Amino acid sequence: MVLVFIGVSFVRAQNPTPSLTANWVVKVPNADGTVRKSYFNLKQEGAKITGSIRVTQFYYIISESTGDAAGFTITGKMKDGKSERTVKYEGKLVGDELQLSTRRRPEDKPTESIAVRAPDGEGALPARLPLPALRKVPYNGLAKAPPMGWNSWNKFKGRVDDATVRAIADAMVSSGMKDAGYVYINIDDTWEGERDSQGNIQSNKKFPDMKALADYVHSKGLKLGIYSSPGPNTCAGYEGSYGHEEQDARTFAAWGIDYLKYDWCGARTIYTDEEMPAVYQKMGDALLATKRPIVYSLCQYGRLDVWKWGADVGGNLWRTTGDISDNWNSMTKIGFSQNELAPFGQTGHFNDPDMLEVGNGGMTDTEYKTHFSLWAILAAPLLAGNDLREMTPATRETLLNKEVIAIDQDSGGKQGKRVWQSGELEIWVRELSGGAKAVGFFNRSAETKEISVKWPEIGFKKNPKRARNLWEHKDLNLSGDSYSVTVPSHGVAFLRVSK
Ligand code: GLA
Repeated sequence: MVLVFIGVSFVRAQNPTPSLTANWVVKVPNADGTVRKSYFNLKQEGAKITGSIRVTQFYYIISESTGDAAGFTITGKMKDGKSERTVKYEGKLVGDELQLSTRRRPEDKPTESIAVRAPDGEGALPARLPLPALRKVPYNGLAKAPPMGWNSWNKFKGRVDDATVRAIADAMVSSGMKDAGYVYINIDDTWEGERDSQGNIQSNKKFPDMKALADYVHSKGLKLGIYSSPGPNTCAGYEGSYGHEEQDARTFAAWGIDYLKYDWCGARTIYTDEEMPAVYQKMGDALLATKRPIVYSLCQYGRLDVWKWGADVGGNLWRTTGDISDNWNSMTKIGFSQNELAPFGQTGHFNDPDMLEVGNGGMTDTEYKTHFSLWAILAAPLLAGNDLREMTPATRETLLNKEVIAIDQDSGGKQGKRVWQSGELEIWVRELSGGAKAVGFFNRSAETKEISVKWPEIGFKKNPKRARNLWEHKDLNLSGDSYSVTVPSHGVAFLRVSK
């Protein structure tokens, strides 16, 4: 028997490329028990992919795309104040997982992640809530002088936890900083956990009991600060106070919180910059309603000329710039750019050029003294940002210079101004209560320089007779109508000139 094989050719029905249309989520667990979730809500129509991308504090609408499930790119854009932000992802569908990669800047290494399907609607932006009509929030009577204390962000970022905060409080006392006037221990971003079924904000695993922590800090004679955002998410992507403003203010008060830094962050996904005053007023009112004295610190990077309305929404201080980093360029770019804002700082309501970097290692000791002196002239909050448990003698000497601190805390609350400049040499003067003046001779250049001026050139009507050198702790007798001082590169000579 002859077997005849009949070739049957099965024409494989060409599987259509699967669709990307779905709600996708990338879940990255944080060590504190929270999960960072990023959502890709995609819709594929023919050759076009539309939808949105929600990552930490950002929400982008997809405006361009190429390819399909076998390999695609999506570009998302969002309006953020006056600027536009863009994000771009490459991806492909493998099985039922979306493999994604993105780069912050073209020269960066790509960050890879895997998204899985999420239920429809999960991760959607919450609906926009109405804002209160603008009215003046009464002054809470706090921050008569610029707040002094410590904040966790500059040194610890997301690593701050209960044990660290307790140890910093201990060090604040044992180092003598408490006696020098530093009082607030401020926890920055990444303490937040999920909300409970009643919508109450809870701390995450790093902070097992916020009330107990506040009790501990208070037992040392110090005060505890916390951080939140008017947006759904904080800058680090944690839970913000959006839609829970009054409730969170009550929770903070019940925990024993004494200071709130309220950081715009994810509010940019809901509101425009022009709406900032109403957004900040809402929390200003909520804090007042708790009846607990809580210093209100606005953080929105100086947008919309916050110095013009920060006090009206109940702010005791407001950031005037983007974030400081621990280097000379960043510090001087911020510090020396504050001249025009001088008229807006006053007792109870201060301009905030950001927290101190003294002792964090990115600047020389001379540069840190310049940083500290400049902040004192600016009547800036003095929030140390270093690890108080391990300070070098120079760091201690700087942060504990009581004569410089006294300039910062001067009861007049007047911010200093640039009165003279010659290239990279600058003189700044702060008028003190009682008629004395703080005078900073700054050398921003790369070499040691002599700065020589005549007193009338820098606003003195009479030639002063006596001064105090605030870093050398020496009294000086002055004579004649001029003054000369040799200042090291990136250094300062800082005088308190008597009336
Ligand atoms: C913003 C603020 C910083 C810090 C971080 C925390 O960048 O400006 O001071 O609070 O958020 O995420």
